[in-house]
Amino acid sequence: MIRTVVFLALSVAVTAAAAQEAPSPPPDVARAQAAMGDLGKRLKAALMAKMQDEGPIAAVDFCHLEAPKIAAAVSAEHGVAVGRTAARLRNPNNAPVPWQAAVLDSFQHKADAGTAPGDLVHVERDGGSLRLARGIALEAPCLTCHGTHIAEPIRQAVAARYPADAATGFSEGDLRGVIWAEVSGHKDETTQSDPRTVIMLSLAERESLREEMRWRMELLSSAMTALAAGDWEAVAKWGDAGAKGGPRGLDFRPSMPEGWFAMSRPTHGRFAALADEARGERRSSEAMKHLAEASGYCVACHAAYRIQTRDAAPR
Ligand code: HEC
Ligand code: HEC
Repeated sequence: MIRTVVFLALSVAVTAAAAQEAPSPPPDVARAQAAMGDLGKRLKAALMAKMQDEGPIAAVDFCHLEAPKIAAAVSAEHGVAVGRTAARLRNPNNAPVPWQAAVLDSFQHKADAGTAPGDLVHVERDGGSLRLARGIALEAPCLTCHGTHIAEPIRQAVAARYPADAATGFSEGDLRGVIWAEVSGHKDETTQSDPRTVIMLSLAERESLREEMRWRMELLSSAMTALAAGDWEAVAKWGDAGAKGGPRGLDFRPSMPEGWFAMSRPTHGRFAALADEARGERRSSEAMKHLAEASGYCVACHAAYRIQTRDAAPR
């Protein structure tokens, strides 16, 4: 595997760009940088506003619910997988994949040697993939939730949502983690010609989604088989099952954009209507109509969204 790794300090790059007409970065690098900048800014602005308006406890809840959604929205808007990771984690969904773990390690060494975390930048091309990371410095307002002395109510609010939290004990100026971005070279053209919106999930979230999808496929097929056999009790049973959520694996819903629910909820609704028909008038034509509408939502959603994960190819 040929791998080119380039380390540079952001301040040096900025100075160089200002001093002379440095060539502008390749489009994929520019896109990844824009996505990373956007994620950093949006998270911080949203967090600070929440802290000011409603205080730190509400802000913990807000981070818990909104941080994954903001990352998913920024990924979708820029067509680049983007997120945050750290060596000492709060949310296990943010766990680093191998290339990110290596970057975190190397950044930590550089930070220990005196480089400011905000100046740490990593750019790597591996096969067709472009990977970028930038250090995140811990600033004074972050101490409330990531510092050494955390107020008891905040500590409890964090512990309730993150029982394995390891992201405390930081001091101002420490390397807290990185913002990363990944553009897959092979998918790059697809990204531009593929009209589907990208939803960024962790590998575990994607697995959980796929499991639910396979279950929905089975359900649809079972309901149709029962209907063809005129077994209305079975139709009612499958209808009830489809009206509820799927197997409860890892909950991927917090990472989903609003539009997702606009297509998943009505799917459940069609299955509920199917169950009602099976317990009521038992008209085959009506039952067929509900199933056809349900599968119409399957098709519509598959045409609207695709999943991208932070991990490229397994290696
Ligand atoms: C109100 C409490 C609060 C404040 C203030 C806060 N954070 Fe966090 N932070 C959290 C929570 C909660 C999470 C988990 C979010 C999630 O589920 O993705 C988190 C996650 C993170 C992560 C992702 C990696 C991980 O451990 O899961 C980074 C990086 C991070 N915070 C950096 C910062 C920085 C930098 C600041 C200051 C600018 C800051 N935080 C301020 C509560 C806070
Ligand atoms: C709200 C959006 C949405 C709806 C509604 C939806 N799907 Fe999906 N489905 C997806 C996405 C996104 C994927 C791609 C997952 C991935 O990339 O791994 C998927 C993947 C699948 C897969 C492949 C699973 C695998 O193992 O890779 C099957 C099968 C499937 N869906 C069946 C269905 C059926 C049947 C329905 C309707 C009853 C349905 N889906 C409704 C979004 C949806």
